[in-house]
Amino acid sequence: MAAVTNKQQSSALNRRPINAEELRDHAAGHHLQYHPVTFDEVRKDPEVLSWIEAADRNLAAINYTDHGIRHISRVANRAVLITRDLELSERERHLAGIAGYLHDIGNAVHRVGHAQSGAIMAFSILTRMKMDPLEIGIVIGAIGNHDEGTGEPINNPSAALILADKSDVLRSRVRSSTPMLTRDIHDRVNFAATDSQMHVDRAGHLITLNLTVDTRVSPVMEYFEIFLGRMTMCRRAANFLNCDFSLVINGTPLL
Ligand SMILES: [Fe+2]
Ligand SMILES: [Fe+2]
Repeated sequence: MAAVTNKQQSSALNRRPINAEELRDHAAGHHLQYHPVTFDEVRKDPEVLSWIEAADRNLAAINYTDHGIRHISRVANRAVLITRDLELSERERHLAGIAGYLHDIGNAVHRVGHAQSGAIMAFSILTRMKMDPLEIGIVIGAIGNHDEGTGEPINNPSAALILADKSDVLRSRVRSSTPMLTRDIHDRVNFAATDSQMHVDRAGHLITLNLTVDTRVSPVMEYFEIFLGRMTMCRRAANFLNCDFSLVINGTPLL
């Protein structure tokens, strides 16, 4: 009988369904032991803090709203709360927090494409921390999909990140160094928002964003001009989590 060639062997392997669990057990046994990286470990990592600072410096230089540690912390914490209130798994809560904490580091490269460049940067950080590649895939997919131009909710932490990031409109995000006369519509809308609360009703399958807007600073129409795309993305994210999305401004339901 003719010997089986390498080529025949590899084409037989290609036809066989790949068993991911088998491959992972093989990798764990022979090469790597992965580490269940926690949100707290990422939050305290000095390299991560430096990237957040570097990204925010670039945006400060072009007068963008705050994308520094305050924005990052609010987004990460809100993403964790959404996953907690929906009673998602413990690991998904950590992954949502980690994605929230790393989601804007790509601004250290450039504003345009920051979601995708940030995902690649997060890949190298989380690989250094020995996170399981299947979990890294969830985190970098969430980061790469958080921007409204290109993003779609693709997993539970991704949907939580979109809701947390797109709802972070707040007066304190306008940089005090931005002169009043040069403040653009983004600054005005953020400056007008004096409070932003998100409520998750798991039993009622409803996620509500409650905003308090000072209409002397910015009419509600301006809010819609800027945020309609973001609110549409929030609705898709809520739907991904099997919920409806409601927007309430100054006590009036608008969506
Ligand atoms: Fe972003
Ligand atoms: Fe952000």
